[in-house]
Amino acid sequence: MRGAAADTDAKAADRHRESEMTAKRALRPRQGILDIAPYVPGKSALADGGPVIKLSSNETPFGPSPRAVAAYLKEAQNLSRYPDGSARPLREAIAKLYRLDPARIVCGAGSDELLNLLASAFLGPGDEAIYSRHGFLVYRILILARGATPVVAPEKHYTANVDEILARVTPATRVVFLANPNNPTGTYLSFDEIKRLRSGLPDTVLLVLDAAYAEYVRANDYESGIELVATTHNTVMTRTFSKIYGLAALRIGWVYCPETIADAVNRIRGPFNVSGPAIAAGVAALEDRAGVARAVEHNEIWLARMAEALSALGLTVTPSAANFLLVHFPRANGHSVVDADKLLQSRRIILRRVEEYGFPDALRMTIGTEEENLAVLDALKSFMGASGARRQ
Ligand SMILES: Cc1ncc(COP(=O)(O)O)c(C=O)c1O
Repeated sequence: MRGAAADTDAKAADRHRESEMTAKRALRPRQGILDIAPYVPGKSALADGGPVIKLSSNETPFGPSPRAVAAYLKEAQNLSRYPDGSARPLREAIAKLYRLDPARIVCGAGSDELLNLLASAFLGPGDEAIYSRHGFLVYRILILARGATPVVAPEKHYTANVDEILARVTPATRVVFLANPNNPTGTYLSFDEIKRLRSGLPDTVLLVLDAAYAEYVRANDYESGIELVATTHNTVMTRTFSKIYGLAALRIGWVYCPETIADAVNRIRGPFNVSGPAIAAGVAALEDRAGVARAVEHNEIWLARMAEALSALGLTVTPSAANFLLVHFPRANGHSVVDADKLLQSRRIILRRVEEYGFPDALRMTIGTEEENLAVLDALKSFMGASGARRQ
């Protein structure tokens, strides 16, 4: 016979087990959610936490405009007040700069939030959404999160391909997500190709042009999406303050879209989804045109210089229109991408591994300051010199 204390313990354990099982049953996320591979951001620190050259997240090396910082700090006086619920001052500042209708702009906590809101508005179980093979990984996550089916279109030369996308359209297709230029490849489609894509897609398919890096593009045949959004009823363009404006931590993005789509997104977004300091800093950042021009010029010079210098070392560099380069390493034993990453980290340089994008042998390097770029070059020069892999 068991003692009374042991009996009580056993009963308590039973009750605990039972309540755990009930909790598990009751709290299971929707089907498919736990099958989603989480987005893993670029590494941003080394184990010792010391200073690093961080070129892993496509951030600007210049930091935010001092005007944006001043506006942010000033807004600290108003932290007890809710912000303008539609981010009106920011929408109006964007509209003024690009000569757009502010009613067709919705702001969000980064373009990530707007991409998610678009997915919520247009995708559900049974729907299909297309993105390209090496496209921005967030698309896959947000499609799966709505119970919809991701459809992957092959690329040519690491560039999205209009014919391959069109070939994958079915009656279930609701959305096409296209980063232009794309992350992590840096490749882009010309405006003619984008127009060909739009006219080949059924009217019922939403085309999402993700132009996170638009400000950096210098190619004459590029158009960020503004013109197509203005002239069609089924195209939207997302933009961000995280890249050239140096406000990644504040989380500010915007979407330019037909009024009907703005209406849909406004119905489902959080009522105060952009904070007061973010609105103020965003408005001030837009006013600093000289700062933007300086960043564009620096990028244009160093993108070309780095591509040329890395190619001269024997590395293959995908031509990029953005503020980063995809650098492919040889598979040679001892001189692989893993070895390169190790050597770079030993010099306190962090680039971005991109296996999950389908590039197990590449690193993505954000264009940094002159000193940072030269430090990468110097490290890779000794790496390639030591590897004897110049002819790979
Ligand atoms: C192609 C692309 N779209 C969207 C984003 C998200 O930017 P945000 O910081 O505005 O959410 C990124 C960020 O890396 C990106 O590379």
